[in-house]
Amino acid sequence: MAPRTGKSDATTALPRAARGGSRSADTSRRGSHPAPADRATTIALANQKGGVAKTTSVASIGAALAEQGRRVLLVDLDPQACLTFSLGVDPDTVERSVHDVLTGAAELGDVVVTCDEGVDLVPSAIDLAGAEAMLLPRPGREYVLRTALEDAKAAYDVVLLDCSPSLGVLTLNALTAADALIIPMPCEMLSHRGVGQLLDTVADVQKILNRDLEVWGILPTLFDGRSNHAREVLADVGERYDLPVLDPPIPKAVRFAEAPAVGRSILSTARSSRGAQAYRDVAASLLARL
Ligand SMILES: Nc1ncnc2c1ncn2[C@@H]1O[C@H](COP(=O)(O)OP(=O)(O)OP(=O)(O)O)[C@@H](O)[C@H]1O
Ligand SMILES: [Mg+2]
Repeated sequence: MAPRTGKSDATTALPRAARGGSRSADTSRRGSHPAPADRATTIALANQKGGVAKTTSVASIGAALAEQGRRVLLVDLDPQACLTFSLGVDPDTVERSVHDVLTGAAELGDVVVTCDEGVDLVPSAIDLAGAEAMLLPRPGREYVLRTALEDAKAAYDVVLLDCSPSLGVLTLNALTAADALIIPMPCEMLSHRGVGQLLDTVADVQKILNRDLEVWGILPTLFDGRSNHAREVLADVGERYDLPVLDPPIPKAVRFAEAPAVGRSILSTARSSRGAQAYRDVAASLLARL
């Protein structure tokens, strides 16, 4: 795939929300849902297993919440920078990224870019790969993101954190900054491997770093409704982990693979598809809790 250029100056200018405009300043895109709380609810999407649709879910739920008029900030915490790329921002040309925020070289508001789908993004770049090593010797290393987000939270309704497939310092930062955790998980047996370890980590975080972290549940992804196995896994997964299962499951569909190539989520590349609608329904179920 040919690399795309970075966003124009117009789109990288500091967005109104990140500049800390008042909450009542922009009500034009509000949907019919109840008014949100005074500051953003931060939701981490995490699973140390790779390829379970964390990034796809962050982009799609973010776009769905923006459709509903919510002010949405997405944070790419993965050195692979797939979220950044899939929202049309070239990670190779971003001037400042989440890495600068975590090292203290930039304020979060100075790094935010506004994307086409009405969401703001804290982009990632490959230099984030060095952030783990850089953070490790620092005292309070798990709190860096939480502290950086503190000011921005007044300017958004929801912040979604896209985690990398690891349980390292960056994911611990996400779990420490988050009010809630959603665990994307494909409906197949092998995808369950490692969930116990993730939940053990969450329990440690709740004990030591972030007492307020709530697990909102498992988001079933890549669901093939024609497969008996997928249906059995879906029926069993909530009881197995004693967790809520978000509804509806996200169907497996080739349209998802196409969307990142044009820098948009499935909500605009295949507006009426079952996949887009499933993410809208999941986002609507989250709205009540924001
Ligand atoms: N519902 C779906 N149907 C079909 N393909 C999907 C679906 N959701 C995601 N995909 C595809 O699966 C692949 C992995 O998705 P994604 O990058 O969102 O996972 P991830 O958990 O963020 O991966 P990583 O752990 O590497 O960050 C991508 O190619 C994506 O386009
Ligand atoms: Mg990802």
